[in-house]
Amino acid sequence: MSDKLTIFHLSDIHFGIEDNRALDWVKAEIAARRPDAVAITGDLTMRARRHEFAAAEKWIRSIDVPVTIEPGNHDLPGYHLPIRYLNPLSRFEAFRELVERRLEVDGIALVPLNTNVPAQPRLNWSKGWITPHALDDCLAQIDALPSGTRALVTAHHPLREAGTHGTALTRNGAKALEELARRNVLGVLSGHVHDAFDIMEQTPGGPVRMIGAGTLSHRIRSTPASFNELTWDGATLSVTARNMEGVSSHDMMVEEVPEDAMPPREEGEPVAPVHHIPRTDPPGE
Ligand SMILES: [Fe+2]
Ligand SMILES: [Fe+2]
Repeated sequence: MSDKLTIFHLSDIHFGIEDNRALDWVKAEIAARRPDAVAITGDLTMRARRHEFAAAEKWIRSIDVPVTIEPGNHDLPGYHLPIRYLNPLSRFEAFRELVERRLEVDGIALVPLNTNVPAQPRLNWSKGWITPHALDDCLAQIDALPSGTRALVTAHHPLREAGTHGTALTRNGAKALEELARRNVLGVLSGHVHDAFDIMEQTPGGPVRMIGAGTLSHRIRSTPASFNELTWDGATLSVTARNMEGVSSHDMMVEEVPEDAMPPREEGEPVAPVHHIPRTDPPGE
């Protein structure tokens, strides 16, 4: 048995348009590898429909490891509905205990940071927004951790743009990153942009690592369906983006791919089974 801690970082499954081949593969990987925790960073569903949440709950209950879930912008009930304001997480009812949950495993704490708001004073409500309350709540949880426990923050939207085709444009993200850097968090896990990344962001509070997971849906952007595998040996956090072996990106696509999606691959063109995310900077302290 390895003495390394392993966390699987999944995101943007988008039940309703999920990639079942990818999900079957991830489930098999979870059963074989038995990660210490699974973090799902939002957009569990496509349109926050009840049958999509039912499918999400069934899949999540079927993986027999500790799970924490962040809500994504697709998981809030539809626009202009009172329930979106009064109880935005209502559709998670059947598995609410897993949502915005702090999960502590062997010296690491997964700490939630909510980046969703019911409404925004801009046209595109899909983008991220960190309220003072959400940030204070996250920081208080980090500050209350036992000494020696390192925090991995879980959020849906990247707190700053990460060079991906999709954007998050998260309001107050820079301030949040600065505060998280001051607390020497191990990293900030996010989703939303459907492409994996691993970058070190410089802030006035010091460097902070931003780690994004791709999607496990057919709504892919530039890279195939994937998830991130994180390992922690007590000193170094390693991140590997993993995608399915032998399945071309084109086969995973649906007709409604975004305009910025990659062009179809040639028949038989191989896809690397394991993609090491390029780093722009060495890990922080
Ligand atoms: Fe998404
Ligand atoms: Fe999203």
